[in-house]
Parts: sequence; structure tokens; C-alpha cells
Amino acid sequence: MNNRENFGSKIGAILAAAGSAVGLGNIWRFPIITGQNGGAAFILIYLCCIVLLGLPIMISEFLIGRYTHANTAGAYRIVSNGSPWKWVGRLGVFTGWFILCYYSVVGAWTLHYTYLSAANAFQDVPAQEYGSIFSSFTSNPWIPTIWLFLFIGVVHYVITRGVQSGIEKFSKIMMPTLFIIVVLLVICSVLLPGASEGIKFLLVVDFSKVDSSVILQAMGQAFFSMSLAMGCLCTYASYFAKNTKLATTAINVSVIDTIVAIMAGFIIFPSIFNIGMDPNEIQAGASLTFISLPNVFQKAFGNGTFFACVFSMMFYFLLFVAALTSAISLHEVATAYVSEEFEVTRKKAATLVTVVITIFGTLCSLSFGPLSSIQFKGLNIFDMFDSFSGMVLLPLGGLLTSIFAGWVLDQKLYKDELSNHGELKAPYFKLLIFTLRFISPIAIGMVFLDQLGVFNTIRELLG
Ligand code: PHE
Repeated sequence: MNNRENFGSKIGAILAAAGSAVGLGNIWRFPIITGQNGGAAFILIYLCCIVLLGLPIMISEFLIGRYTHANTAGAYRIVSNGSPWKWVGRLGVFTGWFILCYYSVVGAWTLHYTYLSAANAFQDVPAQEYGSIFSSFTSNPWIPTIWLFLFIGVVHYVITRGVQSGIEKFSKIMMPTLFIIVVLLVICSVLLPGASEGIKFLLVVDFSKVDSSVILQAMGQAFFSMSLAMGCLCTYASYFAKNTKLATTAINVSVIDTIVAIMAGFIIFPSIFNIGMDPNEIQAGASLTFISLPNVFQKAFGNGTFFACVFSMMFYFLLFVAALTSAISLHEVATAYVSEEFEVTRKKAATLVTVVITIFGTLCSLSFGPLSSIQFKGLNIFDMFDSFSGMVLLPLGGLLTSIFAGWVLDQKLYKDELSNHGELKAPYFKLLIFTLRFISPIAIGMVFLDQLGVFNTIRELLG
């Protein structure tokens, strides 16, 4: 438990946490749901969700992690004084592990698509064939599994190098790289003919599309995108130095996360409009990323040209980097937990976590091929991991975290930590506690009920 490392610099800490936040969610979900749900109106609601819901919980997770200097399960055990609230920490560790199992599979796909783009494999492919290219790849018993091993291998390598020379050093290289790639891709995209239509689609203010389900989607997206309730932020904050400004760090991370998400829209929509595709027909997620976009890029930048090849390769590499830094944060949650709670070395803990993740990740990966017959209510193993974590574990974790931070955690401790023991002013303290007590639990409770389909059932009942 001792000899714990810290992040060596403030910027390292911010970049590591931003690496966790910026992930697939920013690129394959945010732009599409924004465009389809009222553009700038959606962004405005999303920002409110970040400020009212995300930031208070992010700050609380940071606070608990830094105060205890322990892994998430240990941290909650310490701050809950042995009460059953300690289970919130364990739930976070479990959620992180659970998400990593299927998240790595998608990370592996991004590697394969980076390779396909580099090999110019999309030249001359007719639009309708991209779906079958994707499904024959994912159903192959070997290829996705081999990429999965490679992806998890890289995560393992970074984790075993430690907090400073692994996670921090790596984040300091990868996050600026990610940012440069985003900027380059945005520049190429906005120069396409017709780009302005795409940007209009993303940014037009259309409140008529905003209804309660859109607001709930915005909350869910904010939550996932900020990596809340899965132990990542709490674990990373346990490596923060005592003088790290928690609120400022949380704001920095949220700003970076949101900017990347909006810029991803500037990459995706100009090309979609350039080729005259209907953006309302595109489904966010894997279908957008691996079926629609490879086609869009070929058409927009010239079938088989060097430019199309490089653009597409950079885009999938960007997804890879985004997925990788998020996966590292998830792995760290489990590694810190095993190493500290079972008192084994970091290397041994990381190896154990890697082996377990590889086994379950492989099951998720094979669920598109040889294991596709294993289904529960029409969901294969991958979908089960995805749905259960998104619909149950995350909202439940968020709900419990905000109730715990608002109602149970000692307020004096909260204020002390927030103000770095009086060094900083924290005029927003009361507002923060009010939000944690009332606004976040109600809002997250509603997301939870919505995910479970309760509102849809009510709507149907009301006709
Ligand atoms: N925040 C990441 C994203 O936007 C997702 C993530 C989930 C990262 C869980 C870490 C942990 O994709």
C-alpha cells in the first residue's frame, strides 16, 4: 500500500484524466446524436449536463481519490468508515473491469481498420459492401482476436511501466498527438466542397427536436464521456499531488473532452454532406465508424487516392489512441485494486488483470463469430456487456456516488479538500453540495429509469 507513486506534474495529471475521458464516445456517438437532436440546442443541453451533473460528481471522485490515496475500493472503504457505502467503490471497480472487456474489442477493431486504410483496402469497394466487410471481419475467429491481444498488450505494457513512466509519460505523448490529428483532420474536412452544409447540420440551433428523451440522452452521454462512476477518476486522483486544484482540474478535463467531441463533428459531417448522404439515417456507434465512414472517406477524398488513404488511416489511428488511453485508465482501476487490496506487486496485479480481461474480451470478440449462438434476449455476449454496463452499472454507480458525496461524506472533509485546506477559495462549495444532494440524484435517477425503459412503457401506456 505504501511507496505509492504520484503524477509528477499537473499537466501530466490533467492529460491522463483527459485521456480517460476522451474516448470512442466523443467520436462515434457525440457528433451524430448532436446533429440528429437539434445541433447547437443539443450542445447547450449537453453543457448544462456537464456543469450540473458531471462536474460535481467528477470533483467528488477526484476528492475521494486524492484524500485517501488509495484504489477505488480502498478509498470508499476509508471514507465510508466501514459502513455499507464501501460497496460503491467496489461497484466502481467492477464496472471499470466490465467495460474494459468489451471496450478493448472495439479498440482492436480500430487497429484493423487503421491497417486496412493503410493498405488502401477500401479502393473500389462499392458502398453496399462495407457492411459485409465489417461483418466478415468481426465474425472471423482469428483476426479480431489477434488484434485484441495486441491492443491489450499495449495497455499492459503501459500499465506495468508504472504511474509516472507509464501512464503519465504516455498521456503526455498521446494526448497532444491526438489533438494534432484532430486538428489536421478538421482542416482537411472543412476544405471539402459542401462542408458548410455539414457544419450547419451540426451547429444549427433547433429546439424543436429537443424533447425529454433528448435531454436524457444528453445526460447519459455526458456521464459516459466524462468517465464517471467507474473508478477511473478516483483512481487517477489518488495519484494527484496534495496541491492539485481539484475543481480547476475537473474543469480542464471537461473542456478538453467537450472540445474534442465537437471537433469530431467537424471531421465527420463535412464528408457526409460532401457525398450527399443523409445524416439522419446514420446510426451512431460501430455502424457509423466501420460501415458508413470508410465509404464516406473514399468518396469524399477520391477513391483509392493517397489522400483518402492517409485521411482514413489517421482517422482510425485517432480512434485507436482515444480508445487506448481510456482503456489504460480502466485497466489501472483494476490493477490498483488487486495490487493494494491483495497486497501483491503491481506487475503481478497487472498480469492477473490482463489475463482476466483477455479471457473475457476474447469471449466478447468471438460473440460475433463462433460464439454468436450464445444469446440472451437477442443480445450476444458483447452486447450484454455493453448494455448491462451502460444501462445498469453506470447510472447506478453515478446515483450512489452523488448521494454518497452529498449526504454521507463529511462536509468539513469535503470543504477542506476542495479548498486544499484553506489555500484556495471555494465559494461554490454550497452550490456543489446542493447539486450533489438534489439535482444529480434526481437527474441520474431519471436517466436510470429511462435506460431501463420505464419512460417508454409509460409513454406507450398513455398512448
Ligand atoms: N469516456 C470514454 C469515452 O468517451 C469512455 C470510458 C468509459 C472511458 C469508461 C473510461 C472508462 O469513450
